[in-house]
Amino acid sequence: MFRFHASFAITFASILVTSSTFAASPPSGISACCQSLSRKLSGKCFFPSDSQFQSQLASYYSAQESALISACRVAPTTAHETSVALQILTSGDCPFSVRSGGHMIWPGAANIDGSGITIDLSSLSSISISSDKSVASVQPGARAASVYDALAAENLTIVAGRSQTVGVGGYLLGGGISNLSPQHGLANDNIVNYEIVLADGSIVEANSTSHSDLFSALKAGGTNFGIITRYDVHTYPLNPMWGGFRFYNISQQAAILNAQKGYMVKIRKDPIGGISGLNYGFMAGVEYMLLDFAYLGADGSKTDLFADLLAIPFIDSTIRTNVNQQNLSAEIDAAFPPGIRSEWATMSFQADTQLVLDISAKAKQLFSPLNGQDLSWSILMQTIAIPLLKASAAQNNPQNIAPGNKDVFLFSVNTYWSEKADDIAVNKATQALMKFATDTAKSRGLSNRWIYANYALSDQDVYGSYGSQTVSKLKSIKAKYDSHNVLGKLWRGGFKL
Ligand SMILES: Cc1cc2nc3c(=O)[nH]c(=O)nc-3n(C[C@H](O)[C@H](O)[C@H](O)COP(=O)(O)OP(=O)(O)OC[C@H]3O[C@@H](n4cnc5c(N)ncnc54)[C@H](O)[C@@H]3O)c2cc1C
Ligand SMILES: *[C@@H]1O[C@H](CO)[C@@H](O)[C@H](O)[C@H]1NC(C)=O
Ligand SMILES: *[C@@H]1O[C@H](CO)[C@@H](O)[C@H](O)[C@H]1NC(C)=O
Ligand SMILES: *[C@@H]1O[C@H](CO)[C@@H](O)[C@H](O)[C@H]1NC(C)=O
Ligand SMILES: *[C@@H]1O[C@H](CO)[C@@H](O)[C@H](O)[C@H]1NC(C)=O
Repeated sequence: MFRFHASFAITFASILVTSSTFAASPPSGISACCQSLSRKLSGKCFFPSDSQFQSQLASYYSAQESALISACRVAPTTAHETSVALQILTSGDCPFSVRSGGHMIWPGAANIDGSGITIDLSSLSSISISSDKSVASVQPGARAASVYDALAAENLTIVAGRSQTVGVGGYLLGGGISNLSPQHGLANDNIVNYEIVLADGSIVEANSTSHSDLFSALKAGGTNFGIITRYDVHTYPLNPMWGGFRFYNISQQAAILNAQKGYMVKIRKDPIGGISGLNYGFMAGVEYMLLDFAYLGADGSKTDLFADLLAIPFIDSTIRTNVNQQNLSAEIDAAFPPGIRSEWATMSFQADTQLVLDISAKAKQLFSPLNGQDLSWSILMQTIAIPLLKASAAQNNPQNIAPGNKDVFLFSVNTYWSEKADDIAVNKATQALMKFATDTAKSRGLSNRWIYANYALSDQDVYGSYGSQTVSKLKSIKAKYDSHNVLGKLWRGGFKL
């Protein structure tokens, strides 16, 4: 089997010990907010020396995010406590951030340094199913694995992540790409109701009949409208799955890309195929290429959908029948391991083989000088085919993924390294690659404007990618629900309108 980067094993202990942000004592206003949180939410506010604080920190995905030591962390267990926490922070004028599963990559997305406070929703994690079993209610701190497990007991599933460690809070907020997406659109197209704590601390339900403007805005909501304390989502029957990874010689790249394009045409007739993603890069200096397969049926190899892809010679394979989401996501999580420095950036463009080959060559040229023990990098092409676009458009998703209604590749560049000293060089290469990809797609008439919030780097114009009409609509809805822009002023992290 394939071997992953040796330095993936480095521990959080070393990160915490070497952190320099530990020592500074917080500004007095912040300390007052922490004191007030400790008093009003007794036993739920933690300070840097508390073990709960440390374990919450250690469960972020990227090492840079784990290195931010906020003045205190408050972990509400109910919507009411979330509201109490938010009111303390807004009345004390204390900057804050909000975290669910902690998987957004960039530092500060869901954490903050000593100049603020982190609201950690990991204890707000219950999962329940309606009596008619058509709706699952999931709280944001639940990880995908526990949702899958709870629903599997009822032979049900939801449109959720392909990584079982991802938190549902951020995933559903940003959109959500799932193996069920070709059938049912983005995960957030399947939300029927949100419970949300607004800027003034009130708790409301937003759905198609109550606060319907807010309901639609939240599908592109980011960290602008409030803290979501419950998502009610459609359930679907659980079926046996088929899937896994295949590893290839790099010489097969063009053949795979062509077959991926063919698969995107075939999936229009058979949308129970998952999202296929071609990952190409260097891990510990070794060039590799893998494609992931998923089919929500007994045996994808017996269908025409994957026939061309499966005919391509491969080096190794984990594809098998009788798997579930948890089995497939365990493989994804091993390929994208937590706990080290990482940075992702993303864009999308029309599915085109030559463009990807050119971007691959450019990536190799830019990242090669940094190859070696300490940098693993890859570029990932995920298929966003017309059935997904249609399912999402049917729900009027404001993200408006592909205005041109063409099959697109969701492109991302994913980097993993261990030394802080390399942060700038890695970022420079990423930025240069993104510029190349953007310019080249544009010059060939292959652009697609969607920038996926859940993979984007902090400086990417996620909202701009939804189009100016959508942005002005979202802004007017925000003005209604947060008229003094309290959240805009105090809530750090995520993407802002
Ligand atoms: C290994 C790995 C695999 C992944 N696989 C997939 C995949 O298959 N499909 C996919 O679409 N994405 C995938 N992602 C991306 C993932 O969707 C995002 O990282 C997502 O934001 C993670 O959600 P979280 O709750 O874990 O993150 P967090 O970092 O906790 O939150 C992300 C953002 O949302 C905000 N937020 C979180 N909870 C709330 C809330 N309740 N109310 C308001 N704001 C909130 C935070 O402030 C933050 O800005 C993957 C990421 C990783 C690292
Ligand atoms: C789930 O499906 C299995 C296999 O078909 C069946 O044996 C079991 O009773 C079902 N469980 C529930 C809760 O419906
Ligand atoms: C929508 O919100 C209203 C008001 O809270 C509630 O009565 C209704 O049940 C909600 N609808 C859904 C689908 O959750
Ligand atoms: C990949 O293929 C090339 C030429 O087709 C061959 O030279 C090389 O050894 C192969 N690499 C692996 C790892 O099989
Ligand atoms: C799949 O995961 C289940 C638990 O969800 C586990 O019992 C089973 O052994 C796994 N199967 C494979 C093939 O990995």
